[in-house]
Amino acid sequence: MSGSLLAISDLHVAYAENRQVVQNLRPRSDRDWLIVAGDVGERFADIAWALRVLSERFQRVIWSPGNHELWTPRDDDVSLRGEARYRRLVELCRELGVDTPEDEYPVWTGTGGPATVAPLFLLYDYSFRVDGVATKEESLARAYATGVVCTDEMLLHPDPYPSREEWCWSRVEQTERRLAECDPTIPTVLVNHFPLVREPTRVLRYPDFAQWCGTERTADWHLRFRAAVAVYGHLHIPRTTWHDGVRFEEVSVGYPREWRPRGGPTQPKVVL
Ligand SMILES: [Fe+2]
Ligand SMILES: [Fe+2]
Repeated sequence: MSGSLLAISDLHVAYAENRQVVQNLRPRSDRDWLIVAGDVGERFADIAWALRVLSERFQRVIWSPGNHELWTPRDDDVSLRGEARYRRLVELCRELGVDTPEDEYPVWTGTGGPATVAPLFLLYDYSFRVDGVATKEESLARAYATGVVCTDEMLLHPDPYPSREEWCWSRVEQTERRLAECDPTIPTVLVNHFPLVREPTRVLRYPDFAQWCGTERTADWHLRFRAAVAVYGHLHIPRTTWHDGVRFEEVSVGYPREWRPRGGPTQPKVVL
């Protein structure tokens, strides 16, 4: 057995039923790697618990942060905000041996390999606006008017950046440089909590929510950086789509109220 490259996201372990989902997650072989594409939870201790459990079972765990990990919940043990909270999460991952966007990208050599597995942290910049909406201000105003406002506006602080979009643009620049340095002879598995292209957001029930779902600045990354597959979550709409011939996998578990009607939680997806 040469193992499988598996992916899952949006574990949201604040829910007891989702903690059970994590408890039930097992590798099929001792060579399996698990990609965790963000939204493990909100509280630091919850995130630590889930990543610890998974890191003890899978040969390698690769994490990209979701927006929920980056919240600063009012009563959390860790009161750091923005970049400082992200750095603390990276430190936690290092204690657990979990790969982060700050580490050298591992190369998968099992089934379907070789491929560079690149966990990314890119955030969003309000550029996925509904047609005809020209500015972020107008886009946010529409969301407030319709009541479709992402909780990030209250809990995801961009410090020390002046705004979430400036944090996003800084991440995009740094990440672009890193990806350009990857071995050009092998494909990549691009892992980001948010979809790299806008198309998957077209099916959102509330189109105004798309502004919190990615950035136009990554629209061609799946081609430029030779993605064999792009893994994401955040939308809580697990499915496979193809863009420019590249496979995109939304691998979210989501909330119990979302997966219960489907007959059970999403199982880890074999991405390679
Ligand atoms: Fe989520
Ligand atoms: Fe999310």
